Amino acid sequence: MGGTNPYQTETEVALPTRPFQVTFLPMNVSIDVDPKDLPFDRDGRPGSLLDIAGRAGVEIDHACGGVCACSTCHVIVRQGFSTLHAASEDEEDMLDQAPGLEITSRLACQAVPSGAEDLVVEIPHWNRNHAREVPH
Ligand code: FES
Repeated sequence: MGGTNPYQTETEVALPTRPFQVTFLPMNVSIDVDPKDLPFDRDGRPGSLLDIAGRAGVEIDHACGGVCACSTCHVIVRQGFSTLHAASEDEEDMLDQAPGLEITSRLACQAVPSGAEDLVVEIPHWNRNHAREVPH
């Protein structure tokens, strides 16, 4: 976990209660999310797209560790956008600094799906983390 941002106004976000699927593009990796397994205790808000991506083995840059203090985890939600809770003012402020902003842009570390619909999430090429740990 990346910790918390002490300057961020926390808003309570409910975790989903029904199973759903998230597909990450362009790698076309899908993960079935069972609410009883959430959160995955990866980076970002519990149950967030960054949390889910981490579990799916999908690397998304997240320079601040998932505490809404950068915009490197910017993703574009191609399907299921309405199932995400509303972005906080802090998230919108950070998103304003993201390149390639679209109407369905979100910060992966902050956006938590409700599970009402499957999601398709595109990771912009500049936010894909190609770095991998190499075993020594
Ligand atoms: S990782 Fe920094 S805002 Fe999401």
